Amino acid sequence: MTEDVSQNDGDQPDLHTTAGKLADLKRRYHEAVTASGEAAIVKQHAKGKMTARERIEKLLDHGSFVELDEFVRHRTHAFGMEKKRPYGDSVVTGTGTIGGRQVAVYAQDFTIFGGSLGEVAGEKIIKVMDHAIKCGVPIIGILDSGGARIQEGVVALGKYGEIFRRNTEASGVIPQISIVMGPAAGGAVYSPALTDFVIMVDKTSQMFVTGPDVIKTVTGEDVGMEELGGALTHNTRSGVAHYLASDEDDALDYARTLIGFLPDNNLAELPHYAAEFDLETTDADRKLNTIIPDSPNQPYDINTVIEHIVDDGEFLEIQPLFAPNIVIGFARIEGTSVGIIANQPNAMAGTLNIEAGEKASRFVRFCDAFSIPILTLVDVPGYLPGTDQEWTGVIRRGAKLLYAYAEATVPLVTVILRKAYGGAYIVMGSKQLGADINLAWPTAEIAVMGGQGAVNILYRGEIKKAEENGEDVAAVRTRLANEYTYNVASPFLAAERGELDGVIEPAATRVSVAKAFRSLKGKRASLPPKKHGNIPL
Ligand code: HXC
Repeated sequence: MTEDVSQNDGDQPDLHTTAGKLADLKRRYHEAVTASGEAAIVKQHAKGKMTARERIEKLLDHGSFVELDEFVRHRTHAFGMEKKRPYGDSVVTGTGTIGGRQVAVYAQDFTIFGGSLGEVAGEKIIKVMDHAIKCGVPIIGILDSGGARIQEGVVALGKYGEIFRRNTEASGVIPQISIVMGPAAGGAVYSPALTDFVIMVDKTSQMFVTGPDVIKTVTGEDVGMEELGGALTHNTRSGVAHYLASDEDDALDYARTLIGFLPDNNLAELPHYAAEFDLETTDADRKLNTIIPDSPNQPYDINTVIEHIVDDGEFLEIQPLFAPNIVIGFARIEGTSVGIIANQPNAMAGTLNIEAGEKASRFVRFCDAFSIPILTLVDVPGYLPGTDQEWTGVIRRGAKLLYAYAEATVPLVTVILRKAYGGAYIVMGSKQLGADINLAWPTAEIAVMGGQGAVNILYRGEIKKAEENGEDVAAVRTRLANEYTYNVASPFLAAERGELDGVIEPAATRVSVAKAFRSLKGKRASLPPKKHGNIPL
């Protein structure tokens, strides 16, 4: 399908001259960037959504975007498609910078064929992904699409397959971020699912494998699009998404901030920021000396502890709304990124359940793949008991976190703040699983179980006797539990055996952790050669 350029009818530039050729380029370029037409843009804005180009402009450093393939056009004849062949098709792709660092980007353009993915849109995405993998730069995909282009059938499906294969090839090689800013339906959801971070926008993004109509037909369930696959659902219930953005600006800002913590690729240095580090104990540090309540059942907010350890108290939490009993995210210590995993006593007393285990394991593996050192803060009373947990696979799914820590070769520093009971002690970055520096606060309790539980088993006789003698049973129980905690669960017992490398004053944590990571800068560790392991899935 070639255009007739031999005519010069007045409106058309004279293509026999250089000036005419330049004017023609300008005309075509203008046509490419305005391909969707004003009406479609107005419709898009009315939904509270930006266009693909506006999103890219906001995501990248101003003026840094270099577009690829803006003159690509589809080759389909089916359903009269040959009459509408907009330049660029339904996706905008290219490269640019965030904070001065190179990234690759694609943004599906809902204003053209509903952002649907046909042969050439697929080829454009594949090309920019290949570029990102080849050059070792993060790739950010902005999704807003009706899925596989219905007119193109199997050709469109095949392109998804090629994208999934590249998502998998890129996994652990370059950071992959998906920003879902509209529909992502059917098998199309699996591209974001294969990436490292999924950001969704409240009310305007949806992800589902089968939509409300199909669900109604097959199972009879009545469910709306938002409840089924909206941003809130995927941030709170399914764990598919890692951030609930209040609007599109918020989503793009989060992606920019996130990139600031990540290396370009698995072989690149971590980004480093100038940071002033005070090696003396500060008044702010001393606040940690009073954070642990005297009562073991009283919660506190682990975020306060994190903020007192990291540079400028800045912590970028990942998946804050899913499994809030474990907190994960990025911060900096002495200017360099660290990944933080911490039990949250404020939610379900910080117990580990399936969701928390899976959330943390994927994060440990991400950090390990990209050589981001890991700080683990422990205050965990154990695994959440219950048939629901057992029957939905806490054994198989809980094993993931053990696996993730045990295979991690990045510097691992662990601080036990309070409870570290049973299997949960082992799983949360214990020395036995391979952590490098393990510290504890004097408030730490490391034991097979908590004092109250242990008393029920060990001192059954004494408690019965106290009952018979009419003594205050609760007081006896507390005395015995305290004795157990002091004699058996004391961190000094663990320190005596070298299971801990030190017991520190909470106020010393910031400096001790920073020095621990300093000492681990040259860490070299590797796993035996293998094709890949077989993590319990
Ligand atoms: C071709 C599509 C399209 C598609 C939307 N459009 N989806 N064209 N293929 N998959 C077109 C519409 O015809 C319309 O064109 C324009 O995009 C805007 O769509 P609207 O329906 O007007 O928009 P809206 O009302 O906002 O609804 C959005 C939507 C709906 C919910 C996404 O369009 C929809 O249900 N589309 C089909 C979704 C779907 O079932 N996709 C296949 C999923 S399976 P005009 O010309 O009228 O503006 C899949 C398999 C992947 O993707 C497999 C991977 C292994």
